[in-house]
Amino acid sequence: MSKRTIGILTGGGDCPGLNAAIRGIAKTSILDYGWNVIGIQDGYYGLMNDLKRELTFKDVSNILPLGGTILGTSNKANPFASLEEGKKPIDVSDRVVENLEKWNIDALFCIGGDGTHAIAHQLSKKYPNIIGVPKTIDNDLMCTEQTFGFDTACSFVTESLDRIHSTAQSHHRVMVIEVMGRYAGWIALEGGIAGGGDIILIPEMPFSWKKVVESVKVRSKLGKRFSIVVVSEGAHPDGEDMVVREVIKDSPDPLRLGGIGEMVADRIEKETGHESRYTVLGHLQRGGSPSFFDRILATRYGVAAARLAKENDFGKMVALRGTDIVSASIEAATEGLKLVTPDMELIKAAKSVGTSFGV
Ligand code: F6P
Repeated sequence: MSKRTIGILTGGGDCPGLNAAIRGIAKTSILDYGWNVIGIQDGYYGLMNDLKRELTFKDVSNILPLGGTILGTSNKANPFASLEEGKKPIDVSDRVVENLEKWNIDALFCIGGDGTHAIAHQLSKKYPNIIGVPKTIDNDLMCTEQTFGFDTACSFVTESLDRIHSTAQSHHRVMVIEVMGRYAGWIALEGGIAGGGDIILIPEMPFSWKKVVESVKVRSKLGKRFSIVVVSEGAHPDGEDMVVREVIKDSPDPLRLGGIGEMVADRIEKETGHESRYTVLGHLQRGGSPSFFDRILATRYGVAAARLAKENDFGKMVALRGTDIVSASIEAATEGLKLVTPDMELIKAAKSVGTSFGV
């Protein structure tokens, strides 16, 4: 194939590093391979609705430190279950393939999390020339040791915990911080360890109220007049469900979690008598400029993804293994979620420095 045209889309929730990845794919395609680059607007929505524009070298310059995505994104659009005109979901994937052919796209790069990759895998049965690039602050994508966005989110959690310590210490309070992560506890676990959380609650280790309360009391007995509790939005007491904040009907993954932080703060105050407050970090964790680590990871992913296209190695997602960038099949990457395991070294290390998981 001579001069190729490639398409890039960003799907799912935004996260720091998306622009660095777009830049990595586009600059490699333009500089190393002399290809044309098309940016598809708003993820799969743009693919379904003919929304695209050319990305020149100038368009992808100076975007490395920018948060969000210059292409826009959507965590609702699904070509296999499109809610057109608010009616019943319909399959418009043939229209998507027609658009890709009409635009002469030789390779499609889908930058996203598990939802975006699940759609990419389905689409690859009709249009095989797809390459995946893993992003999400949740770090829950299989086949890769780290997604970009995660490091920046955890750095923000760490800084927030440092700040919360001031009030906790000064007022002798229990401060509860609720963080994102959906069904995975990575942000709470790693952000919590780095920020010195005394109690960390994650979905993979359903907690006992008794143990949580006991941990605060034990700290008091040791002379610690404050406690920092980091709660993942998906954390829940043993035998109880996760707390759902909102149901977004037209989203492929309709549950939005949230509210457990407030419950934890209330229960601790009631049962220990210690004044407690909660803070929800929310979407602040997804915003802002990518960290040093995320800039490098997203750039390496972008460059490696363009290289896969050059080698016609489609149906793959770029991935981090150790210090190497490798690839895995998109299918394998969507076969489940990468979750924390209670016997992993990170959990053991946290326990060794006195962190309680409320179990
Ligand atoms: O997957 C990323 C994430 O930020 C989750 O941590 C969170 O549960 C969810 O997205 C929030 O989604 P929304 O932006 O639709 O509220």
